Amino acid sequence: MTTAPRHFLDISALSREELRDILDEAHARKAARAGWPKAKRDEDAPLDGYALAMIFQKNSTRTRVSFEIGMRQLGGEAIILDAASTQLGRGETIEDTARVLSRMVDAVMIRANAHQDVVDFAMAASVPVINGLTDLSHPCQIIADLMTIEEWAGDITGKTIAWLGDGNNVCASFVHAAEKFDFSLRIATPQAYAPRAQEIAAAKAAGAKIETSFDAKAAIKGADVVVTDTWVSMGDTDKDARLAAFPPYAVDEAMMAHAAKDAVFLHCLPAHRGEEVTDTVMDGPQSAVWDEAENRIHAQKAILMWCLGKL
Ligand code: CP
Ligand code: NVA
Repeated sequence: MTTAPRHFLDISALSREELRDILDEAHARKAARAGWPKAKRDEDAPLDGYALAMIFQKNSTRTRVSFEIGMRQLGGEAIILDAASTQLGRGETIEDTARVLSRMVDAVMIRANAHQDVVDFAMAASVPVINGLTDLSHPCQIIADLMTIEEWAGDITGKTIAWLGDGNNVCASFVHAAEKFDFSLRIATPQAYAPRAQEIAAAKAAGAKIETSFDAKAAIKGADVVVTDTWVSMGDTDKDARLAAFPPYAVDEAMMAHAAKDAVFLHCLPAHRGEEVTDTVMDGPQSAVWDEAENRIHAQKAILMWCLGKL
């Protein structure tokens, strides 16, 4: 009997216990190799002999490098595929590509334009598939974000997280996380860029504490964590409308002053300095963005270990 692969497609699909194990593993592995050269293997090298393929339909810096270096630290190998230069770019189907790669590597990470492509890939694959960002979600990012919040602010229980800006993919993964962790999520977006109503409804039905509004100042008031993202995501074609709609949601010093005194600022990056965030906030004492970026490595490693049955 073959067991179904453990895909990491969305945070909502994992149990609280599995997510807690992933976060604990990420913290522990980070602590165990503090100060080491970046490509040195972890002492136990739990993925020795394993190979990960990564397919990119969109640009990436952090996701690509963190998975590649993370695999090396775990003792495994990573192969990077630019989707356009594979046969996918000439029309080979997602499903056939999944079947072939499943015979050649032990896990696949995909960054795709359409979320459905990742779901279809996973359905056809016989190895674990990891969502490395789609139009709908970015679950790996939120594992690193939760890890960073725990480092900077301690236990996430009872915290208030304010999301200002676009209610799209990264925001959606925070919504999924709010189902699994005991924090309050306040989301403020322009009306045209609100999170998907069915997603919010599903999360609330699963017990998430979420408030949505169009009022940035109300959302950020007293928040322990402030998060934003670019106003123009990869694939967005309505740049002018976006740049007109989003300025009231910009995170500058005046906006941060409404948050709790020691509120932590997060941004998945890349940032558009002077748009969704100012230099003073990005480079200021409340900004955790560089730890957040580094934590992508530690988070990916724990996600990979969970997918491959090592957690
Ligand atoms: N935050 C994030 O996913 O960054 P990249 O697009 O550089 O991978
Ligand atoms: N929302 C952004 C996140 C990039 C990591 C995008 O989809 O482009």
